[in-house]
Amino acid sequence: MLKPVKIQNKVLQVPIIQGGMGIGVSLSGLAKAVCKEGGMGVISAAMPGFREPDFEKDPVQANIRALQKEIRIVKEEVPNSFLGVNVMVASRHYETYVKASIEAGADAILSGAGLPLDLPKYVQNKALMAPIVSSARACRLICRRWDGHHQGAPDFVIVEGPQAGGHLGFKLPDLENERCQSLEEIVAEVKKELEPFQEKYAKSIPVFAAGGIFSHEDIVHIMEAGADGVQMATRFIATRECDAHPAFKQMIIHAQKEDIGYVKSPAGFPGRAIQNAFVKSRQGQPNQKVDNCLGCMIPCHWQDTPYCITRALIRAVQGDTENGLFFTGTNAYKISEISDVKSVMNSLQGLGKETK
Ligand SMILES: Cc1cc2nc3c(=O)[nH]c(=O)nc-3n(C[C@H](O)[C@H](O)[C@H](O)COP(=O)(O)O)c2cc1C
Repeated sequence: MLKPVKIQNKVLQVPIIQGGMGIGVSLSGLAKAVCKEGGMGVISAAMPGFREPDFEKDPVQANIRALQKEIRIVKEEVPNSFLGVNVMVASRHYETYVKASIEAGADAILSGAGLPLDLPKYVQNKALMAPIVSSARACRLICRRWDGHHQGAPDFVIVEGPQAGGHLGFKLPDLENERCQSLEEIVAEVKKELEPFQEKYAKSIPVFAAGGIFSHEDIVHIMEAGADGVQMATRFIATRECDAHPAFKQMIIHAQKEDIGYVKSPAGFPGRAIQNAFVKSRQGQPNQKVDNCLGCMIPCHWQDTPYCITRALIRAVQGDTENGLFFTGTNAYKISEISDVKSVMNSLQGLGKETK
């Protein structure tokens, strides 16, 4: 059994956060199912409007409408849900998506892929706030800024280690040569960084560890190493409730260890993804000029970019196994069957074996 964790004025019954997965992989379907089991469901704010009719013409309005619709579904259908929205700092309309999420009822904003230095200004104490960091240094920079400029401290923190899926907060040579700090080390250092801010603001700041957590034993281990809970993403992809196309789930089920590797992202970070035909076709290729840019990420320049990440992720979530970009954590190869969220959550809590 895992104990509930208090996050400021709210209690997370099961100390498991389902990591936000863009584009379209974690929307209301998955988030709702995780909330029902007492975990924190997280909707990804990365281009959720991709199915809206006006997406090509006005992606920002389409995204706001879809994002708010997804949030409201969870809040209306799951009483007492603890719902987060993952908004990437690198998003071009970051402030807009944060405010739209809060307006629709998000309980927490989780924010990485950059340093969320001004998140408190946009949230205005209307939701809980969690930076996602991959080093103690990033945590320190954020805490000092929030302290100095916004007179506050994070409500909880996600520490994402080198085994995570999607964009990674480490340099590619360090990842390739296994020179990154371990998740356990980063958790310990982040907790130390948080100490003075917990004291100053008289609040406890729970830390959730992410990246490569797979089993109940992994959770117990990382909690013994100091984490208050975990954030997990890959483990939830091959569930019936996950919002991705069935072919995406099959990609995860069939992935072997050697199929999982790195990809250069237009966002300027390395990413971890399945090495399918698309990823291989981009390796060692010069940058391209991309037509019909949707303006998703600040660091990407449409005139000179490895590929359009929005189009590649949309192809993936819609099941195009050849041409899509399939983000995954290192542990996808351990998943061999489609399951449901209830049995995954039970097994993660050590409450019996997973049923398929
Ligand atoms: C398909 C996929 C998409 C992801 N998209 C995002 C995202 O949009 N924003 C973000 O902060 N993290 C994203 N992540 C990272 C996860 O939220 C999570 O922290 C990480 O994958 C945890 O490691 P695990 O997958 O080994 O459990 C993504 C991960 C995956 C697998």
